[in-house]
Amino acid sequence: MAGNDVLLSIKDLHVTVEGIEVVKGVSLEMKKGEKHAIMGPNGSGKSSMANALSGHPAYEITSGEVLLDGENLLEMDASERSIAGLFLAFQYPLAVPGVTVTNFLRSAIKAHRGDDPSVLRSFRKEMKEAFKLLEMDEVFASRYVNDGFSGGEKKRFEILQLAMLQPKVAILDETDSGLDIDALKVVSKGVNAAHTDDNAVLLVTHYQRILNYVSPDHVHVMMNGNLVRSGGPELAHQLEEKGYDWIKAELVA
Ligand SMILES: Nc1ncnc2c1ncn2[C@@H]1O[C@H](COP(=O)(O)OP(=O)(O)O)[C@@H](O)[C@H]1O
Ligand SMILES: [Mg+2]
Repeated sequence: MAGNDVLLSIKDLHVTVEGIEVVKGVSLEMKKGEKHAIMGPNGSGKSSMANALSGHPAYEITSGEVLLDGENLLEMDASERSIAGLFLAFQYPLAVPGVTVTNFLRSAIKAHRGDDPSVLRSFRKEMKEAFKLLEMDEVFASRYVNDGFSGGEKKRFEILQLAMLQPKVAILDETDSGLDIDALKVVSKGVNAAHTDDNAVLLVTHYQRILNYVSPDHVHVMMNGNLVRSGGPELAHQLEEKGYDWIKAELVA
């Protein structure tokens, strides 16, 4: 495949949080149309990596290279990264009291596409469609962002943003956690609808469950700050069956 099909290129990424190195040399490449999954035990550095990529100030990238569709991501601040086409669905979405869902989405769309009247005209319609896709009641449009939302509603709203913003690269951090089976199916439907031949999705997950609905092309295992195994979907099934200990055992052997 041609080199310009690479949407996200991470080389030897190191991340420090509170003075401690938690990501220790991760390299990963995602091409157009691909879905990757990173699985791993709690505390292995998955969220730290995702947060650092999104530009979260608490996560310092001490070395490494990250290119988003050929552009140097590390020279951009968090909002520039978003506008350049990187999306992160947070493991723990924050509430924004005082800002309604509609205003929040409208600002995001404006920031991404400009405030040409035609953009704003189509906004309402697009928002309506996104609500439908995520099977969310339209009363949410006038509620404050994530304020009093249940765990499942927060996750649906993350994927609703994904559906509307149409990023080049979406990183979904534990989007499946805390979802009952019906919500998981709805959220997965949203992810699958947003995924095209021209973008790439990185699912970060502890459990294999969501991978039954959003099937990855590549599965990577993260342990102690590094990707220690990569394979196809069968790797996720092995992990579900056997846990993570056998990989640990193999690594010390
Ligand atoms: N904001 C933070 N402040 C202090 N330590 C953190 C912070 N975020 C992550 N860590 C630490 O970094 C390590 C990796 O955590 P995390 O990236 O959340 O792992 P995972 O997502 O794989 O469960 C853990 O030891 C965690 O306590
Ligand atoms: Mg995490």
